[in-house]
Amino acid sequence: MTIIVTGGAGFIGSNFISDWVTKIDELVINIDLLTYSGNINNFSKVKNNKNLNFVEGDIKEKKFIQSVFNDYNPRAIINFAAETHVDKSISSPENFINTNILGVFNLLESSREYWGNLSENERGSFRFFHISTDEVYGDLKTGEPSFNEKNPYSPNSPYSASKASADHLVRAWNKTYGLPTLISKCSNNYGPYQYPEKLIPLCIINALQHKPIPIYGDGMQIRDWLYVEDHCAAIRKILDKGISGETYNIGGNNEKTNIQIVNKICEILDELKPSSKKYSYKELISYTKDRPGHDRRYSINTSKIENELGWIPRENFESGIRKTIEWYLENKVWLKELMSEEYSNWLESHYK
Ligand code: NAD
Ligand code: TYD
Repeated sequence: MTIIVTGGAGFIGSNFISDWVTKIDELVINIDLLTYSGNINNFSKVKNNKNLNFVEGDIKEKKFIQSVFNDYNPRAIINFAAETHVDKSISSPENFINTNILGVFNLLESSREYWGNLSENERGSFRFFHISTDEVYGDLKTGEPSFNEKNPYSPNSPYSASKASADHLVRAWNKTYGLPTLISKCSNNYGPYQYPEKLIPLCIINALQHKPIPIYGDGMQIRDWLYVEDHCAAIRKILDKGISGETYNIGGNNEKTNIQIVNKICEILDELKPSSKKYSYKELISYTKDRPGHDRRYSINTSKIENELGWIPRENFESGIRKTIEWYLENKVWLKELMSEEYSNWLESHYK
């Protein structure tokens, strides 16, 4: 048996693959284009595992995707590949439309063709699993109930609009062609191997380099933080037991304001790696211009996945964030290799 994972050199995909090959004896084909956020070092721990094949390539390339399907006869494909940074979607949306919409269209069409040629039994058990985001629901005011799977789509950023578009395509391929699909919508992930453009790793790295820690607007925006290992366990559960055509929300039951997150990181760093300049890292916090269209609050109702599939998040934020910070402190070589000209140019142009 074989599964295809796309985007398995990114943050969540690489954590998923590393977990998969250590827990499950089944071949996984990792397709990744290795864009700026994809990194083969993210799965170096398991790169020699007999159950892992890495194939560099683009989800938008039809012939390439068709050839991987034909070479490996997968029972499922899980699509993590995407452009993922909201700020980049605001400054340059085109890649988001191409990868997150046209790329998914191509995966759906290639899957449909492959699936149509399977035996009846194989067709019934095949799964096209699309990893989406809670951001497609838009934002919530304080006190409004958390997002459940029936909430209407209301995306506010080019990123979330591109992910919402992909979800609609996946739904339509299920309703129209009968392709057995699954969609999961998760909240903000954190943990090892996250590219330092996102809040948590950016905060850790800037603090360690004695650079300002940028907080957009008033820092009172709320996200629900999910430890990446919990997310990977939820994906395995959905792949295993999820019903074709269904959507499952995944959250960490950990709503925090951005300023709470950053203060917590600074406190843990003050304890684990006190600044040589003898100040608290909190002194580096710097309020900056707000992100346009910035969603105020995301919150996930996890009742469906808990009740129907028996999944709950195991990690609490206190221990998860400490493990994450310890990981970044212990993996300086991984970090150093990311400190490319492209990364410095992004920081320079975005935060100037
Ligand atoms: P990431 O940016 O770390 O990784 C994305 C991966 O996709 C990279 O390895 C990149 O090289 C690859 N990729 C990009 N374009 C590609 C293409 N055309 N063909 C093949 N590979 C390509 O992202 P992540 O944080 O790991 O997110 C994974 C998925 O989870 C995405 O679909 C994202 O929308 C979703 N998601 C992420 C979060 C989060 O907090 N990180 C939250 C909700 C949903
Ligand atoms: P981010 O990690 O980019 O994830 P998302 O936008 O997908 O939720 O941002 C998390 C929150 O942190 C979001 O409210 C924006 C905020 N943020 C900052 O305040 N400063 C920053 O430098 C970044 C990258 C994010």
